[in-house]
Amino acid sequence: MSVKIAILAGDGIGPEIIAEAEKVLHCLRLEFGFSAEFEHAPVGGAGFDAAGHPLPEPTLALAHQADAILLGSVGGPQWEQLERDLRPEQGLLGLRAGLELFANLRPAILYPQLANASTLKPEIVSGLDIMIVRELTGGIYFGKPRGIRIREDGQREGFNTLVYSESEIERIGRSAFETARKRSRRLCSVDKANVLECSELWREIISKLGKDDYNDVELSHMYVDNAAMQLVREPKQFDVMVTTNMFGDILSDAAAMLTGSIGMLPSASLDSHGKGMYEPIHGSAPDIAGRGVANPLATILSVAMMLRYSLDEPVLAGHIEQAVGKVLDSGLRTEDIASSGMQVVGTADMGDAVVAALRAA
Ligand code: IPM
Ligand code: MG
Repeated sequence: MSVKIAILAGDGIGPEIIAEAEKVLHCLRLEFGFSAEFEHAPVGGAGFDAAGHPLPEPTLALAHQADAILLGSVGGPQWEQLERDLRPEQGLLGLRAGLELFANLRPAILYPQLANASTLKPEIVSGLDIMIVRELTGGIYFGKPRGIRIREDGQREGFNTLVYSESEIERIGRSAFETARKRSRRLCSVDKANVLECSELWREIISKLGKDDYNDVELSHMYVDNAAMQLVREPKQFDVMVTTNMFGDILSDAAAMLTGSIGMLPSASLDSHGKGMYEPIHGSAPDIAGRGVANPLATILSVAMMLRYSLDEPVLAGHIEQAVGKVLDSGLRTEDIASSGMQVVGTADMGDAVVAALRAA
């Protein structure tokens, strides 16, 4: 059976890194019997330029139809002056909300070959393998009311709403506990229950879920400020972390940097049926866009996550991950992960190298 993959390259370095991921997909099709069709559509600033909206109707329709979605990145300075509803980020947020992709899995894995790329001491980060499960369709990102209003005294004030329902907390909790079950059965839930009612409910629901349905998983709780500190102090104490949309946004960038380069890390955003959108966790990097130097590995590894989580092809996923490992072993590096004695290559050469290693699998 052929699967349909929607490819949304987006903005900035998006088209460059997606092109390399597509080389990998074509190689799987030609040489590994992977049966898939690909369809492209614009999103983000590219969506605005093509159709006047960051999430054009046909793009959302394609995303709904597809079995999985591969996304590059969105955003860039040329769209920053637009009204908020038309900015590129709304394309991404619209896809997350429109497809109910509430569970965002963000692994932070340190490749042994890149131990020197981290700004932390090698002994603190070597062997690091954390999974952050971030709630993605609720919380302060989507809560209403929101806006900027004028107060009686004439001053403007900005306001947003942090809100989570019991069912929203429970479903992300289940995803996290299930993820923990497939790993070391340790889960740390991160909140701010000492200050926020919303977090108080979060902690109560997660605790109850643990007690009632996931007794085999060791559950701990941590305040977000402490979690940020612990992540840089002793990151290997964590295995799976679960948290809200905004805390997860922040902690996942911190965790990514422990591994040396945000250019290496993929992510999956899943609905309750396993359908998902896959994207590198780095952004559109407008400063290096068009120069052919971006690291395509996070996007290529996102293809591996797609094969594993949505398309039931764990063997092919493993082939891709091994191919990336071999390329790193061979000493090839893009600029962002370069270190002395290594050979610095551009985006396309890195993609070609992964395909060559894949062919040899
Ligand atoms: C991310 C990004 C997005 C977010 C932006 C681009 C809207 O930072 O995926 O982490 O805040 O969720
Ligand atoms: Mg972010």
